[in-house]
Amino acid sequence: MQYDSFDDFDEVNSPRPDDNDFSNILHKAMSRRGFIKTTAAFGTTAFVMGTAARIPLAGAAESATGSSAGSVLGFQAVPATSADTITLPPGYKHQVVASWGDPIFSSGSPFDPVTRGTGASQELALGDNNDGMALFPLGEDHGVFVVNHEYVNRDLFHPDGVQTADDVRKSKAGHGVGVFEIKKTDGKWNIVMDGALNRRITADTPMELTGPVRGHDMVKTAADPEGVTALGTWNNCGNGETPWGTYLACEENFNGYFATTGDVDAFEQTPLQKRYGVGAKDWGYSWYQHDERFDLSKNPNEPNRFGYIVEIDPMDPNSVPKKRTALGRFKHENAAVVIADNGHVVVYLGDDERGEHLYRFVSKNKYVEGDKAANSDLLEEGTLYVAQFDEASDDLAGSGRWIALLQGTHGLTADKGFNDQGDVILNTRTAASAVGGTTMDRPEWVVANPNGTDVYVALTNNKNRGKKPNAGGIDTPVNGPNPRVGNLYGQVVRWNPVDGDHTGESFEWDIYALAGNPTIHDDLNAGSANITADNMFNSPDGLGFDENGRLWIQTDGNYSNEEQFAGMGNNQMLCGDPATGEIRRFLVGPISCEVTGVTWSPDRRTLFVGIQHPGEKGLPSHFPDGGDSVPRSSIVAVTREDGGIIGT
Ligand code: FEO
Ligand code: CA
Ligand code: CA
Ligand code: CA
Repeated sequence: MQYDSFDDFDEVNSPRPDDNDFSNILHKAMSRRGFIKTTAAFGTTAFVMGTAARIPLAGAAESATGSSAGSVLGFQAVPATSADTITLPPGYKHQVVASWGDPIFSSGSPFDPVTRGTGASQELALGDNNDGMALFPLGEDHGVFVVNHEYVNRDLFHPDGVQTADDVRKSKAGHGVGVFEIKKTDGKWNIVMDGALNRRITADTPMELTGPVRGHDMVKTAADPEGVTALGTWNNCGNGETPWGTYLACEENFNGYFATTGDVDAFEQTPLQKRYGVGAKDWGYSWYQHDERFDLSKNPNEPNRFGYIVEIDPMDPNSVPKKRTALGRFKHENAAVVIADNGHVVVYLGDDERGEHLYRFVSKNKYVEGDKAANSDLLEEGTLYVAQFDEASDDLAGSGRWIALLQGTHGLTADKGFNDQGDVILNTRTAASAVGGTTMDRPEWVVANPNGTDVYVALTNNKNRGKKPNAGGIDTPVNGPNPRVGNLYGQVVRWNPVDGDHTGESFEWDIYALAGNPTIHDDLNAGSANITADNMFNSPDGLGFDENGRLWIQTDGNYSNEEQFAGMGNNQMLCGDPATGEIRRFLVGPISCEVTGVTWSPDRRTLFVGIQHPGEKGLPSHFPDGGDSVPRSSIVAVTREDGGIIGT
């Protein structure tokens, strides 16, 4: 299939910042350093396949999981494809559970493919661009489903453009979080219309600011002079779940919704605005034209109330979501929650921007099993850390440490502008860089192995690696876990805390998968030894572990299936064995979609997966309804014909 060349997304005016632009191919300039060191250390027999000199697969050479069982992958791999459908292994089938515009209240209206809804109808329906998701069981075949609606695909969402106040009302309701009960009847999962727990959280839903920035001068506004109540959440990308039954929605590109009605040319960014990409123009959502909350000339502090993790209790539709500012302010991807052996809650967090950092939060107080009330504010207080990776040893592995971001330590002092912990959190990025955090290739999802202490982060790609500084002006040369200049393909990096202590200072890391194209490269761009012509992919993004320890990998990359990406097909979902390193393609999504968001039914016989933005950029998808229908982001349920457990 022939696609138009990919737009070079402008950092300020991009409709979304995902890097599908690889027109400036940099493989020729790629550093040979890692490759040379690898082959020097390991010779050319064990790690050479065909003409491609490959870096060793760390998982095969020395398992970081401690598991030595056979493969946990029990399905037949599917080939890459550019088909406008969901492609699954033999014996698997899918159904669409819910799509953008589907009402969750009987007072709403069915999706209207002509108008595509109004502000009022959208407030009673599921939003656009489903992303992170979780199912909270209410029974074996019944649960409350929570899903992020990351942003709206404006070309499809507003057939007449964004012009009126109602267009903006609809856009705000197309964002946020959807909470709705689902039930399985006659083998099919359906929305429970008017379910008691059904709720839409939008860009206008009141939320409590908790933690270090609560009441800080920089979050006070005319509408909220105390700085304690923020309205809404948007651009929620990945998610997290806590063991006490709450959902974490993660605010990513919050900056793209602010603009000034003043003189654009005269607008001068503050250093804080510059680091977070808040500027004179928005990314085209136009909210500022109908709601002065988004007009920086009137409300310069409003953006400081965004960029956080939002904790939502799905079991109480009247609960006020809480912004957990102790977990840092940045372009949050997702939140991987672990209870450490010593009882502290540990949350691993990525900041998805080129050359930004990887973080860890450790709660001050300890988890009390089974006591939801005691646990409900564990994310309010604790210590935030940034990851510092050492340079790689010969096999692209090494050690690293966590550095605390605490006011008064490591140079985070008043003379540097950090007068209190609120200042550190508001400008987490600057604090993290100041203490020596490692610049990463766009940290997307982080997941922790439920059967081990190994943790994985998807580093999706970074065309600027080794070429341009990050948003803070920090240089980004290749480094240990980010070994390629102009990284086109991305990698999944794994670490294991020393002594298995998630609250400890140090960790050991390796690269679980260096994505690449071994059919056209024979250098580091061929990828690691577990990347083959049969499973190659680019731009790992969503990650999920099932309880049997399978690592599910979702992609948000270049789907041209040409040149550097020839043979990779549409975006997809693969499954990896942490112990052996084997990776098999499980699902391929429809045209121009991203596959993102994953959760399971309690019996593990249904896999829920998100298909985001099919048909973006005007590409010819008609998923899920076919014919000439409007493509819609959808939540899909995957089951086996024989009713078996997914993946076995
Ligand atoms: Fe919304 Fe970083 O993906
Ligand atoms: Ca993502
Ligand atoms: Ca992405
Ligand atoms: Ca996306």
